[in-house]
Amino acid sequence: MRYQLKQIHCRPWTLSGLSLPLMESHYENNYGGAMRRLNAISEQLAALDFTKAPAHVINGLKREELVALNSTLLHELYFACLGGDGTRPTPAIKEALARDFGSYDRWRDEFLSMGYALGGGAGWVLLTYVPRDGRLMNQYAAEHTQSIASGVPILALDMYEHAYHLDFGANAKAYAETFLRNVDWKAVEGRYEDATAVPAPRPLVQEEFRDVPGVGVEEMKAMMDSGQPVQVVDVRPRHSVSRTKDIADGAIWRDPERVQDWIGELSKAEPVIVYCVYGFHVGCRTAMALREAGFDAKYMTGGHAGWKAIGGPVKMKA
Ligand SMILES: [Fe+2]
Repeated sequence: MRYQLKQIHCRPWTLSGLSLPLMESHYENNYGGAMRRLNAISEQLAALDFTKAPAHVINGLKREELVALNSTLLHELYFACLGGDGTRPTPAIKEALARDFGSYDRWRDEFLSMGYALGGGAGWVLLTYVPRDGRLMNQYAAEHTQSIASGVPILALDMYEHAYHLDFGANAKAYAETFLRNVDWKAVEGRYEDATAVPAPRPLVQEEFRDVPGVGVEEMKAMMDSGQPVQVVDVRPRHSVSRTKDIADGAIWRDPERVQDWIGELSKAEPVIVYCVYGFHVGCRTAMALREAGFDAKYMTGGHAGWKAIGGPVKMKA
C-alpha cells in the first residue's frame, strides 16, 4: 500500500504564538519525513520474503513501520487540533471532561502537567476515548508507538522538541500552554462525537442462559466485604475442584451433579450465588435449578478464575 499525504488541516497563519517557520518545518520535515519513511518501509516489507527473512529484519521493519505509521496518524491529528480559540472549550466537551476528570480545570492541569513532564524528552500527550470503558483519559505515548489498543485519540499534544524548539527553545511549558490556547475545540467535539459512536467490544453472550441472572466478581466481592447476607456455593465439577487447592473464602463446595442432595441446606431467606470454574454452563445450570426450586439464586460471571483474577480472598480447601 502507498500512503497518501494529507494537507495540513489548520491554517498556520491564524495561529497565535506558533510561527510559520515552526509550523512549516514541523509539517514538511517531521510529518512529511514520517510519511516518506512509512512508504519506504512499506515497499521493503512488500518485497520481503517473510519465510526466509531473519527475525531481526522482520522485527526491525515491523517496528519501524509502527513508529512511522503512528507518527503520520498523530501528526495529522495534531495539525487538526489547532486553529481555534483554545480558551473556550465547547459546553459538550466541558461536560465530558467534567464527567471523566472531575472538572475541566482538573483535566487541563493533568494534560498540561503531562506535557511539562515530557519537556526535554520526547513523546505525545493524547486525550483518548476508550470505547470499552466509555470514557476519556489522558495518555502518555512515547516513540509514537504507545497508543491504547482500540482507543480513539481526539486531542494530540506533540512534545517532541521539533514541535517547539524553533519558537520556544527549551521552554516546553510555554509551548504546551500556547498549544492549548490554539486548540480548535469545535473540531475536538466533532472527533469526540465520532469516537463515542465506536461500540464497546462485544460482550460474551450465552444464548441458552440469557435469562439466568449473573453477578460480576467485583459485585460479589463488594457484597461479601460489606457483610451483606449471601450464601456462596462453589459448584465447580468434582474433577476441576480436585486439581486446585483453593476455594473462595466464605464459600462452601457442593457437587453440581448432586444438587438435590444439598439443596435443603440452603435458606430461601437469603440470596444464593453459585460459581463454577469460568462462569459457563455448570454455574448457570445450577443457578437455574435453584431458581426453579424457589431460591433467589444467581451465578457469578467469571467463576473461580475470575475471582482469583481480581485477587479475591481464597482459603485452602479442607
Ligand atoms: Fe511532531
